[in-house]
Amino acid sequence: MAPARNARVLFNEIPSGYPIPGKTTVYDDSQTIDIDGVPLNGGFLIKVLVLSIDPYLRGRMRDPSIKSYSIAYTIGAPLDNFGVGVVLRSESDELKVGDHVYGYYPFQEYVVYEDIAALRLARVLKNEEGLPWSVYVGVCGLPGHTVHHGWMEFAKQKEGDVVFVTTGAGPVGLQVISRAHYTFDSPRLLQDGTDVAFNYKKTIDVLMKEGPIDIMACACFIECGMISAYNNADDYAMKNLPLIFTKSLTLYDFTVMDFHHKYADQGG
Ligand SMILES: NC(=O)c1ccc[n+]([C@@H]2O[C@H](COP(=O)([O-])OP(=O)(O)OC[C@H]3O[C@@H](n4cnc5c(N)ncnc54)[C@H](OP(=O)(O)O)[C@@H]3O)[C@@H](O)[C@H]2O)c1
Repeated sequence: MAPARNARVLFNEIPSGYPIPGKTTVYDDSQTIDIDGVPLNGGFLIKVLVLSIDPYLRGRMRDPSIKSYSIAYTIGAPLDNFGVGVVLRSESDELKVGDHVYGYYPFQEYVVYEDIAALRLARVLKNEEGLPWSVYVGVCGLPGHTVHHGWMEFAKQKEGDVVFVTTGAGPVGLQVISRAHYTFDSPRLLQDGTDVAFNYKKTIDVLMKEGPIDIMACACFIECGMISAYNNADDYAMKNLPLIFTKSLTLYDFTVMDFHHKYADQGG
C-alpha cells in the first residue's frame, strides 16, 4: 500500500494572548507512514480517532522555564493530550487489532508505541453502549472526570443548597449543572437543569433584573480553573478577599489528576 499521510498539529510559537491557529500552532502534513510495513518492534500501531482540546492546553503553551503543574509544550513538536485511538496492527500481548484505547496521544494521525505504558493512563474502552468515541473526550473523558472527582470530593451538598456554576456552557460547567440537578431533583429546574442562566458578557443586564448575587455565609467554592485569566498577560487581582473570613467561606482547588487513582475503578 502507498504510504499514508501522517498529519500533525505542531506547537509553533508561544502566544502572548489567545492562541492563533496557523501561528501558535501549525498543521503539518509533510510526513507519511507505511501503515502495513512500519516496524512495530513488539509494539502496536494506533490510528488516532479523537483528541481532547481543553483549556489547560493554553497553560502548556509557555516558556518551559516557567514552572507549573503541567508540562510545557516543545516548539516544533506535536501538541498532546487525551484521546481515543484504534489499534491497526499489534505485535504486543497487551493490545489486539480493533481495540479502542483511551490514553495520551500526540496530535497526529498514526502513532507506533513499543509499550502501552508510553500511552500514559491508557485503558481499553469496551464501549458496550456503542457511544460515539468523542464522548470519551467529553462527558466520559477529562471534563467528566473533573466534574465527578470535584463533586465527590468537595461538594458536601445538602437539600436546598443553591449551586452557582461559572463556564456553564462548556462541558465541565454543563455537567456540574446536571449533577446538581440529579442530586437535588429540583422541580423548579429548566430542561437543562438550570434555574437561572445568563451570558457572562451580559452580567450587568442580569444584575439589573435579578438584583445583586449575594454570597451566602459558609459558602463553599470548588475551583478547577480560572478561564478568564488564561489568555491575559495581566492577571487581575481577586476582589473582596476579606469575605473569606467575614462569611466563613471555604475554597477548594484541585486538578483532575489529583484523584485519578482514587477513582480509577470508576473509569477515572
Ligand atoms: N482542574 C482540572 O483538572 C480541570 C480539568 C478540566 C477543565 N478544567 C477547567 O474547567 C473550566 C471549564 O473547562 P471546559 O472544558 O468546560 O472549557 P470550555 O469548553 O472552553 O468552555 C468554557 C466556557 O466558559 C465560557 N467563558 C469564557 N470566559 C468566561 C468568563 N470570564 N466567565 C464565565 N464564562 C466564561 C466560554 O464562553 P466563550 O465561548 O464566550 O469563551 C465557554 O462557554 C476551565 O477553566 C478549565 O481549565 C479544569
